[in-house]
Amino acid sequence: MEITLKTMMIQPTPQQGIAVKAIHAFALFCAMLLLWPAHAGAEVLHSFITWHRDDTARTLAIHLVTDQSANPAAEVLYDREPRGGSAADYRFRAEGRQAKIPGLDHVYVQKIELRNLTPNCTFHFIAGSPETGYTTEKSFRSLPLKPSTLKFVTGGDMGVGDRTRALCREAAKHDPGFVLIGGDLAYANGRLSAWNLWRDYLAILEEELVRSDGTIIPILATIGNHEVNNDIQSKNFFERSPFYMHLFAPKDGPTYFRRSFGDLLVLLGLDTGHLVPHGGRQSQWLQYQLEQTDEFPYLMACYHVPLYPSHREYDGSSSQAGRKWWLPLFDRYRLSVGLENHDHTLKRTIPLYGNKPAPEGQGTIYIGDGCFGRDPRTVEPERWYLAHAKSTPHFWVVDLHADRVTMIAYDENGEEVDRTSRPPRTPHQ
Ligand SMILES: [Fe+2]
Ligand SMILES: [Fe+2]
Repeated sequence: MEITLKTMMIQPTPQQGIAVKAIHAFALFCAMLLLWPAHAGAEVLHSFITWHRDDTARTLAIHLVTDQSANPAAEVLYDREPRGGSAADYRFRAEGRQAKIPGLDHVYVQKIELRNLTPNCTFHFIAGSPETGYTTEKSFRSLPLKPSTLKFVTGGDMGVGDRTRALCREAAKHDPGFVLIGGDLAYANGRLSAWNLWRDYLAILEEELVRSDGTIIPILATIGNHEVNNDIQSKNFFERSPFYMHLFAPKDGPTYFRRSFGDLLVLLGLDTGHLVPHGGRQSQWLQYQLEQTDEFPYLMACYHVPLYPSHREYDGSSSQAGRKWWLPLFDRYRLSVGLENHDHTLKRTIPLYGNKPAPEGQGTIYIGDGCFGRDPRTVEPERWYLAHAKSTPHFWVVDLHADRVTMIAYDENGEEVDRTSRPPRTPHQ
């Protein structure tokens, strides 16, 4: 306004008038440049934290969903002190890579991995790029290098809705080290037209999975049947399961993974035949991983379709495949707990070994069965292997200590609905 008033006080000649108008227009243009954000119109739609590799104390990965490409790549600016979102003030920087989800306009996924983190430390960060804009300052906490205890939340079969949000909110109150989701996340069935479900789903995770100290809770997710579009016949996993592969698959695949937590726990995430069959390369990989877990007091596997279902048929093809290919390995390498999903119930088995009740103090228990938001189904409580089964939405809190792991299921009101505990594994005979 000051520029306008001054120009009005001058009585210019016609030539001077043209020059003054040009200066006026240029001044207005400069003022707009100063006032207009560099990333006007672009947006970071969602962000979450996961891991790309086995080392969960010194690495983390931040995934962004943006509506615009970042050129050349998105970045994370981070520091051990809060910097109020001022990009120039963060001491550390990591750069990532991006992919556009084919067939969807304006949806880009940026994956930025942070390495060489100081374990057991809180970091503050912004993520994005000048093109996409940055997140507001958020914080995460790296895990200890050698934790003596570890707590995590697990469950599957979530979907989008008030119950999912309520369960996530209750889960976050336990301040877990991470949340492990056992498949059937947004129920989009791999359809590009259902992107809105993923947007709503990611918003729930982002808004609710935050600890009491404000740090973001990392997420690990295995694949479920509702992540795959079975109408597409393709060997390209990204075509059959675009959202799981782009958003959650570690380093773009494969769909099974190992994560270690100090020398306390090895966690294996598996694919119950949705993109990769139980047998063949996956079971070879599983055996190779299991051979290297002897020193760990706890060994757990998380996957979607249960070996010991509580609602569906015991002889369902995927349950049979799990018992054929994986059960002998679980028994031989003394799996502590199988974390199962897909049946939308609450269940816990008796300790099992060799597909029979295990001798006292031995065996594996299987808990589930994936009811972290979806409507519960009826249970088949008379099954010989079930110790407890109920038609109840819930999540499990797994609390590991050197001498005992306790697993407690909570409902959406925060009420305890089941509990059990197990000793650590005994040394291999
Ligand atoms: Fe499901
Ligand atoms: Fe399922």
